Amino acid sequence: MNRSETCPVLVTGGAGYIGSHAVLALRDAGWPVAVIDDFSTGFRFAIPDDVPVYEGDVADQALLARIFAEQDTQAIMHFAGSIIVPESVEQPLKYYENNTAKSRSLIEAAVDAGVPHFIFSSTATVYGEPEVKPLTEDDPIQPVNPYGMSKAMTERILADSSAAYPINHAVLRYFNVCGADPEARSGQSTIGATHLIKVAVECALGKRDHVAVFGNDYPTPDGTGLRDYIHVSDLASAHIEALRTLIGNPDRSVTMNVGYGRGFSVLEVLDAVDKVANRKLPRVEKGRRAGDVASLISDNSRIVAQTDWVPQYADLETIVGHALQWERKLSEIRGEA
Ligand code: UD1
Repeated sequence: MNRSETCPVLVTGGAGYIGSHAVLALRDAGWPVAVIDDFSTGFRFAIPDDVPVYEGDVADQALLARIFAEQDTQAIMHFAGSIIVPESVEQPLKYYENNTAKSRSLIEAAVDAGVPHFIFSSTATVYGEPEVKPLTEDDPIQPVNPYGMSKAMTERILADSSAAYPINHAVLRYFNVCGADPEARSGQSTIGATHLIKVAVECALGKRDHVAVFGNDYPTPDGTGLRDYIHVSDLASAHIEALRTLIGNPDRSVTMNVGYGRGFSVLEVLDAVDKVANRKLPRVEKGRRAGDVASLISDNSRIVAQTDWVPQYADLETIVGHALQWERKLSEIRGEA
C-alpha cells in the first residue's frame, strides 16, 4: 500500500486518554476520522472541533449502522471500555458487559456493514503473572482478573470472527501507557488515576504530598516493580501502522505487543520525575500493592518486524516531561492554576 493512502476510521472511546491520542495521530496524518463515545469517562476537550462526534453506546447497532453509512467507515479502532483492575474484581459483570459483550455487538455491527478492518485495544494484563522476562505474543494467556479475561475473551471473539467473515483485525496488547501529546492537546485527565507517572507528576505540581513506592522486595535489580512504559503518542502511531498492515494484507490478522522492549523500575521513574521537575518528590515506602506483578516487559520484535512503526518518544525523561506539561495544562483547563 502507498503510505499516503488512507481510509475513514471510526474511533470508539475517542474522548478517552488513549483514544483521543489516536484521533490526533490519525487527523495529523490526514486520515478521515470520526468518534463515538458515551462520555462516561472521556472529555470533549480532548477531541479537536473539526472531528465528527457521535454521543452514544458502542452496542447501539442502529446508531453504528448510521455512522458507518454517514462516514463510509472502513476501519474501527476500538478503545471504549472499562480499565480499572480492582474494580473488575468487585464488579466482574460490568467488565464482561462493557469489554466483552459490547465488543461482540460492535464486531457484529462491523461484520453486518462489511467494515473490513478492526483494531482492538488489548492489554499486557492478558499474560497474567508472568516470569521476569520479555513477553512474546506466544506466551500463555492466563489472565488473573476479570479485566484481563474480559479483554482475552474479546481477542478470541475477533479471532473466530476473522476466520468466519471478511474482516481482518489487529489485537494490540499495550504495556504501561503514559505521557501526553507533545503539543499538550490531550493527556491523562482522569481524576484519581493511580498510574505511577500520573501520580508522580501530580505530586511534582503539589497536587499530592508524596508518592508511594509499592513494594521494595521484588526479584528485580532494585527491588521495585519493572514496567515497559510507552508514550501514548507512540502507542497511537502503532495503531496507524497496524491499520496500514491490515489494509495491505486483507487476509491476515495480527496480535502484537506494543511496548519498547525495555523496563524501568519505580525508583528509576521517580528519579526521572525528580530530574525533569527539578525537585525531590517525597517517597513513602509501602508494602506491595495487591495484584501487582514484579515485571511486565514486552518483546516487541513482532510489531517492529511486521509494521513500519518507529517510536519517537521512548526516552523516559521525554515521557515524563510531556506528562508534566499536560498536568500543568490540565490545571489551567480546570481553573486550578
Ligand atoms: C497498568 C494498568 C493496567 C494495564 C497495565 C498494562 C491500572 C491500575 N493499571 O498496570 O490496567 O493493563 O498497566 O500493563 O490501570 N506504583 C507505585 N506507586 C504508585 C503507583 C504505582 O509504586 O503510586 C508502582 C506499581 O506497584 C507498579 C508500577 O508502579 O510496579 C506501575 O504501576 P501502574 O502505573 O499503576 O501500572 P500497572 O499496575 O503496571
